[in-house]
Amino acid sequence: MELFIDTANVEKIKQYCEQYPLAGFTCNPTIVTTENRTVEELVNLAPGKRVFVQAIAEDYEGILEDARKLRAMREDIYIKVPCTPDGYRAMYTLKQEGYGILATAVYTVGQALMAAACGVDYVAPYVNRMSDTEIDGCTLVEDIVAAYAAQQIETKVVAASFKNLNQVVRLLVAGADAVTIPLNLFEKLIDNKLTNDAVKVFADQWEAHFNRRSI
Ligand code: E4P
Repeated sequence: MELFIDTANVEKIKQYCEQYPLAGFTCNPTIVTTENRTVEELVNLAPGKRVFVQAIAEDYEGILEDARKLRAMREDIYIKVPCTPDGYRAMYTLKQEGYGILATAVYTVGQALMAAACGVDYVAPYVNRMSDTEIDGCTLVEDIVAAYAAQQIETKVVAASFKNLNQVVRLLVAGADAVTIPLNLFEKLIDNKLTNDAVKVFADQWEAHFNRRSI
């Protein structure tokens, strides 16, 4: 299982990638611009972890050029390439050149299979965005997981675009290899109110008995 955070928040990337067993972080053009960051500020964060940055150009040559620029900034970077006709061509070429590639903006099982045929390392189905268009995003990711198992495909499924932790957990139970989750959900995952309440009761009882809040 690999857990990623989907963010361009520099401080949180540094903090959480160092303090917790995250596999790395992902971002997309919306996230980068909303945080008012540049790719240069992000690419070398989280040393030793996996970092995913999206190509911006939409045409084949432009995607290759973006990928080259990104790899010049960080050798082990993963390039996110959308599942468009030029995107598949670029994935196929870039994999032959040894790039780490994530096929992004996946909305169908067919796209996930096509990207796998291009040899990509990860596919990122957009769970919540599918659900917004009346497609059941969780069921679709389960179908991708089943299709990859049936075809013995090694490409990893990194489920993305989440509204709640139930979606995240359901897909990990279903066999998704990885998830990338927004900061608010990661913070909810590690900081549960019921657990905190239980811990406080334990410490209160201990203090009442031993007059201290430690062993
Ligand atoms: C990750 O690769 C995607 O860019 C991201 O999860 C999309 O999430 P959103 O639908 O919340 O924007």
